[in-house]
Amino acid sequence: MQAFLKGATVQTTRPQKDKTAGPSTEKKTKAVPWVEKYRPKCVDEVAFQDEVVAVLKKSLEGADLPNLLFYGPPGTGKTSTILAAARELYGPELYRQRVLELNASDERGIQVVREKVKNFAQLTVAGTRPDGKPCPPFKIIVLDEADSMTAPAQAALRRTMEKESRTTRFCLICNYISRIIEPLTSRCSKFRFKPLANQIQEERLLMICDKENLKYTKESIAALVKVSEGDLRKAITFLQSAARLNVDREITERAVIEIAGVVPPKMIDNLLQICFKGTFEKLEVAVRNMVDEGYAATQILSQLHESIIEQDLSDKEKSAITEKMAVVSKCLSDGADEYLQMLSLCSVIMQETSQNN
Ligand SMILES: Nc1ncnc2c1ncn2[C@@H]1O[C@H](COP(=O)(O)OP(=O)(O)O)[C@@H](O)[C@H]1O
Ligand SMILES: [Mg+2]
Repeated sequence: MQAFLKGATVQTTRPQKDKTAGPSTEKKTKAVPWVEKYRPKCVDEVAFQDEVVAVLKKSLEGADLPNLLFYGPPGTGKTSTILAAARELYGPELYRQRVLELNASDERGIQVVREKVKNFAQLTVAGTRPDGKPCPPFKIIVLDEADSMTAPAQAALRRTMEKESRTTRFCLICNYISRIIEPLTSRCSKFRFKPLANQIQEERLLMICDKENLKYTKESIAALVKVSEGDLRKAITFLQSAARLNVDREITERAVIEIAGVVPPKMIDNLLQICFKGTFEKLEVAVRNMVDEGYAATQILSQLHESIIEQDLSDKEKSAITEKMAVVSKCLSDGADEYLQMLSLCSVIMQETSQNN
């Protein structure tokens, strides 16, 4: 009976798998996120990071590639750059054999470094492609988001890196270079990725708008650039959401601001006025309203910060307030209650600014 059931399940599951595979792959090609669709395909397409591109291009021409360490804020082209370079080096066929890509979603304790990375590093490779063209006689191991690797795992990597230097190059990618242990950083050529300039972001966004046949206002693109703060991935993701919500309609500045979850400047002004002149009861209601509206406390915090800097307050007041902001920011990232944190910040603003009166 069991054998029969087993046989039956095997028979029925196989064709089912095939059936589901068909439409799902079709769907995937249709609904690719734009960040992936418009990822630079070759190193030349990477905008604004001229220094890195120049070095990589040299090594693409045949010089040797050093171990690399890319660091910089998110959405500035780190992952795209190394993937594009690897594709150019090896071509689409060899790429799979020669490049091992591990990112933060993979388990990356010491065990993985010992087994997966080491085994891959030990494979030797030839200096030609199947199509006869020359290619570099080494493999590349990309460790994306390396700052989330544990220190022992990083230490284990150190030996592997040195021992396998004849056949393997490493590319470590991280946001914060201070979280990579010194012995690793000293074995790599370091490249800092800069936040993208507004004009560069604008060009890429306009290119996408053009290819996707979107209707948009000039202000909406400027707003996208402003809310994404140098992170092109964020800007492209917002653009795609805005396009989904405004099919056949123009994308406006308002739509962008809504999607990005920016608090209306009037609301921020109002809150500050209450801090300066109002009472604690009023303040409590205003903060409660804002949090109930669903605005993220981190967003309110960053807008309050911008606005406090520009207010006509004494240096002492400003420094006391911004110091409190740093504490609130840390508490929020540790998971503290949003309402209480906002209220405590606003109380400090109130206290500081009312001392003179
Ligand atoms: N310098 C750049 N030139 C062109 N496109 C970029 C650049 N930086 C980021 N992008 C865009 O942003 C997306 C995310 O870039 P990615 O390389 O993954 O950033 P990260 O630095 O966080 O690894 C890419 O798909 C690409 O469309
Ligand atoms: Mg990345």
